[in-house]
This record gives sequence, C-alpha cells and structure tokens, in this order.
Amino acid sequence: MSFYRAVSVIVLSINSFAYAQTDPGLRTGGPAVGGALPGLSPNEVALFNAGSVNFQEVEDVTRNGLGPRFNSNSCVSCHSQPASGGSSPQNNPLLAFANSANKLPPFIQANGPAREARFVSKPDGTPDGGVHALFTIGGRSDTPSGCNLVQEDFSNASNIALRIPTPTFGLGLIEAIPDAALIQNMRFNSGGKAMLGIFGRLNRNGNDGTVTRLGWKAQNKSLLLFSGEAYNVEMGITNLIFNTERDETTNCSPVPAPNSIFNLSSGGPAEFDDITNFAAFMRFLAPPALGPSDNTVVQGSNQFFNIGCANCHTTTFQTGPSAFAGLSNQTIHPYSDFGIHHMGSGLADRISQGLAGGDEFRTAPLWGLGQRIFFLHDGRSTDLLQTIAAHASAANSHFPPSEANTVVAIFDGLSTSDKQAILNFLRSL
Ligand code: HEC
Ligand code: HEC
Repeated sequence: MSFYRAVSVIVLSINSFAYAQTDPGLRTGGPAVGGALPGLSPNEVALFNAGSVNFQEVEDVTRNGLGPRFNSNSCVSCHSQPASGGSSPQNNPLLAFANSANKLPPFIQANGPAREARFVSKPDGTPDGGVHALFTIGGRSDTPSGCNLVQEDFSNASNIALRIPTPTFGLGLIEAIPDAALIQNMRFNSGGKAMLGIFGRLNRNGNDGTVTRLGWKAQNKSLLLFSGEAYNVEMGITNLIFNTERDETTNCSPVPAPNSIFNLSSGGPAEFDDITNFAAFMRFLAPPALGPSDNTVVQGSNQFFNIGCANCHTTTFQTGPSAFAGLSNQTIHPYSDFGIHHMGSGLADRISQGLAGGDEFRTAPLWGLGQRIFFLHDGRSTDLLQTIAAHASAANSHFPPSEANTVVAIFDGLSTSDKQAILNFLRSL
C-alpha cells in the first residue's frame, strides 16, 4: 500500500466516523422519467415521438456530416441516465471513439462521466473559454480519403475546464417560466438571503436583454438554440442555426454545409430539420416523477427549507401561458432559481459566459436527483455529502467566497438525523 493510499484509508475512516449519515445512493426501481408530458395534442405527441428517434440517431461522416471534429455521435450517448434525455450514464460512452488516430483524454475514464472540455486560455495567454472537440474523424471506416487531422492535445490539465451533461427532462416547462417570475423570485426574501451571504442574479442574452436559463451557467436562451449549438459543438453537424463548420480543413467535410436542413426532397410534405425535432422532444419531455416518501423525506424537505438551501434551490414556479398545449400555467418543482451565484474558489472554472464570471454557476435544478450518478458541473462527485461540502469554499485572489458558505456551515451543525433526512429527501427527487 502506497503512502498516499494509507493516508486516504485513514482519512476515509475518520470521515465515516464524523459523518454517520450517508448518501442512500442511486434510487432503484424503473426510471421515473422519459415519457411525454400529459395534456399534449396528438400532433405534439407525434412530434415528440419523431424527435425521440432523432435524439437517439447515431450519426456518421459520409451521410450525416459528423465532424471533422466531435465529442460523440448521438445526443443520447451523453444524455441517457436514467432514460433518453438524461445525464451521463455510468459506463462512459466516449470510450468508443479511441482508435488509431484518437487517444482518450485523461479525464475520459471507463466509469467516469461523459465530459466536454473547454480551454481556459489560448496559447498566447488570451481568454479562450470555448469547447474543444475531443476526437477527429480520423481512423474510422468512414474517414474521407485525403482528410488528415491531428487530435487536439488535452494533456495540460491546468488549462482545461470540464462539464458533464445536464438532464433535459421538463425543460419545456423551464422555457415556459416568464422572465417576470424569475425576476420576482430573485428579489423575494432578499433581506433574509443577504443575511446568509446569498445574492445571485439572472444571466441575460447580450442582444435582447431577456433572461437566459439553460446550461451550467444559464448561458443559453432556448432549446432550439441549444440543439443547434449541441449538434455543431458535440457532433460537428452544421445546421440552420450553426451553419458553418468549426474546422474547415479541406477533404474532411464530404456533406456540404449546413449538414442538417428541412427535408424538401421526400416528395411528401416538407419535414422539419433535426434540430427542430431535438428541441420538440426535450420540450415535451415530462419532468421527473418523485420517488417514494416517508417521514424522513418530509423531515428532510423541511430542513432543506429551514437551513436555507431553498434560497437558491427554489422549490416552486408557475409557468405562464404557452402556445404549446400541456405547458401553460403548470405548477412545477425544479428546485432552482435559474440564477447564477458566486460559488467560491473550489468550484470556480475560470470560464465566463454572458454575465456569468469564472466562479458563477446556475443553481443546479435538483428534480430527478435520485436517479443521477454524477454531480456538479464537472462531475467531480458521485456522493451527495461531498457535493454539499463542495458548495463551501473561501475567496482567493480572483474570486469572492462562495455564497453557500453559511448554509453549508448550518448544514454541518445539524444532527445526524437531520442530515440523513436531507440526503433521503434529495434521493426522493
Ligand atoms: C459529448 C456529450 C454530449 C452530447 C453528444 C450532447 N450533449 Fe447536450 N450537454 C452536454 C454537456 C456537457 C452539457 C452542459 C453544457 C454547458 O452547460 O456548457 C449539455 C447540455 C445540454 C442542454 C442544456 C440542458 C439544461 O438544462 O441546461 C441541452 C438542451 C442539450 N445538452 C441538448 C443536446 C442535444 C439536442 C444533443 C444532440 C444534438 C446533445 N445535447 C448532445 C453534453 C453532450
Ligand atoms: C448560494 C446558492 C446555493 C445554496 C445556498 C445551495 N446550493 Fe446547491 N447548488 C448551487 C449551485 C450554483 C450548484 C451548481 C454548482 C456547480 O455545479 O459547480 C448547486 C448544486 C447542487 C447539487 C448538485 C446538483 C447537480 O446537478 O449536480 C446538489 C445535490 C445541491 N446543490 C444541493 C444543495 C443542498 C442540499 C443545499 C443546502 C445544504 C444547497 N445545495 C445549497 C447553489 C446553491
């Protein structure tokens, strides 16, 4: 046993002594997600079903325009836990892309999460912040002849910021929350929040000034925009929103851009393009259903509220009137204010997006948590106690302290029974 292993065994036993409470772990039983919202019209159900097929489609180079650089070849590969549309599965789907021209980056591990990588700085030291595709289309059976690409270098860990997939269940309802409701919620109880050191603000679109709410930094406006961006960033498939290749190396794009457009050639009525279908699938996905409840779950739900977790993880919103049947005037429980908060030097990733600085993250929605495997933006944790502990960290020379420090200190002071109840409550979501 190495010195390090010996020390970590001791630390582990001290921890399990100090924390008698434990994360109950992944909730068993079938997935509480994956179906369509109730109340959809027949045409909406048809679109949901068509979008579901597109979301699971495996794309290739010569017919669909995969690459020249990409992270994966289907939406569902990264978004599959516990059902299509979800977050990263236990077995890393990206292992499949190692070949003679592509080696696995060090942060892609067999039982670790699917991750995408952003670079903090460019080689000249100026800010980068963009996603760098992990793989090239080299070394495959469908590699176009004359296409020679070199895989990017992911060895400089200190320059890399990682993100795991966010689940997409219930996102049509999130799109349907009026900006005014989000603004009002951020202002609600501002005095009480300030006493705990909690402030936060909404991220906004730079052009029209409206609230953006999707992604780990609430950087993105809508499901359609996210779909267009994901198709190009994750798979290198150009489309009607992101219409040019990220890498224009000659001989590497056999399908002309944009790769995905509406289909006018079938002889029948025009069909939507893939990104409209992806967005429709996610828009009409029902939110996760709750797991079984008992006395400890009720106790935990009360304590979650009492100690201030709910000051960021807002329990309830009402959607506004929506053009889509099934999305109007619904009461939902996403457990997020969809605002961004300073989370301290420990979580800071040094990536800025819109108003969100290098230490600011969107309060992660907690619905569906009971069936999630990896937690926090980079998937550093699989354990809820560690996840709560990671909310607390001090200031450094670049960033202020975490807004969650006081709430985590209060959590730490709870009785074992109350802490366990909060964990049980979280796994019931
Ligand atoms: C290589 C893995 C990977 C693939 C493939 C992938 N995603 Fe994602 N997805 C991510 C990551 C990572 C994030 C978090 C991005 C961020 O916040 O920067 C994400 C976030 C999202 C979100 C935001 C959800 C929310 O609540 O904020 C949507 C919507 C989404 N993806 C849709 C798609 C669609 C549609 C496809 C297929 C075209 C797709 N994704 C393919 C990794 C992936
Ligand atoms: C100041 C606002 C704030 C407070 C207070 C807060 N959280 Fe969070 N929470 C966040 C943010 C922001 C994230 C995402 C951080 C990241 O990924 O780096 C998060 C993430 C989480 C996650 C992981 C979810 C995921 O998708 O990976 C859990 C679980 C969680 N919080 C539980 C709690 C609990 C329990 C409490 C109370 C003890 C609490 N939080 C208090 C803002 C807050």
